[in-house]
Amino acid sequence: MRTIVLRSLVAGIGGYLPARIVTNAELALVLDTSDAWIRERTGITRRHVAADDELTSDLAVEAARRALQNADLPVSAVELIVVATSTPDHTFPATATAVQRKLGAPIGIAFDVQAVCAGFAYAVAVTDSFLRAGHARTALVIGAETFSRILDWTDRTTAVLFGDGAGALVLRAERSAGRLDDRGVLATRLWADGRHYGDLYVDGGPSATRTTGHLRMNGREVFRHAVVRLAESVEALLADTGFAAGDLDLLVPHQANLRIIEAVGRRLGLDPQRVVVTVDRHANTSAASIPLALATALEEGRLTRGQLVALNALGGGFAWGSALLRF
Ligand code: UT7
Repeated sequence: MRTIVLRSLVAGIGGYLPARIVTNAELALVLDTSDAWIRERTGITRRHVAADDELTSDLAVEAARRALQNADLPVSAVELIVVATSTPDHTFPATATAVQRKLGAPIGIAFDVQAVCAGFAYAVAVTDSFLRAGHARTALVIGAETFSRILDWTDRTTAVLFGDGAGALVLRAERSAGRLDDRGVLATRLWADGRHYGDLYVDGGPSATRTTGHLRMNGREVFRHAVVRLAESVEALLADTGFAAGDLDLLVPHQANLRIIEAVGRRLGLDPQRVVVTVDRHANTSAASIPLALATALEEGRLTRGQLVALNALGGGFAWGSALLRF
């Protein structure tokens, strides 16, 4: 007997980067840093920074429009909008409702997911659950950030690491025989460990300080945990589904640091050709980094239909997670 299940298929992908590019050399003019240090320690060469009047929702809307165009779907089809962000336009309402309004999307479900750099992994898992439970047929799942607004631009240990941007996927619930070689989201895994709350945080917030605050990070501690947890997060997906690391066509990791990405690739025994890297051009765009990397891989012809793709991310909390999909 064949069982028919609902599965979330990636129908379209879009990315958006603000026009203004800031190079390492420009940062070295105002901070005690150098292009050589930033490249060697992080792999970053430049980042995009939003204009003063460009909000997180504006970046999200542009990425969403491109994803809908890529999916060949009208905005009227969108029933669910999930925005992963730690830099919302306002404390409330959800940036997802600003996106809904600016896109002209119909009445539906719209909310934000806040898991910092793991936000997109969380948003994919949440959206997948909503679609498979029948809450909606067509969803926009967006990662969008303006970290430039929460950086302490006098702190060289954090200011050089981040950039602004947005990426979006259109996910659609389709009936499937539920086989692992069929398209769609195959598995997701999420974790958090609040003992590390103080290792990567913003020193402000409506309840704690009534201010927005600035990003603070114990970089070495984040680095150490990231390498181990990110590799484990993919191993868990492989164990859940019975695939081997060698079956993966692409790993699209969160883009925080080239050294982390390479170390995770080595731990998993992956050919570096199969690991997507955009941190050099985009820097760390937090929840936007994975969908932006997917959009870049699609544009460059590296991401093609039928490929087995793993995503993984870790950030403040610590929160981390992963997803396995057949594109
Ligand atoms: O997306 C969320 C997850 N975030 C991450 O994954 C970030 C994880 N952490 C990292 O990527 C790395 O730890 C950093 C890139 C943040 C730092 O690299 P590191 O190799 O761990 O350097 P470090 O913190 O050990 O600092 C080494 C030295 C220090 O000087 P001393 O104490 O050795 O004299 C720093 O003060 O480098 C110095 N330093 C810099 N020098 C020039 C730190 N930042 C800079 C800078 N330019 N921008």
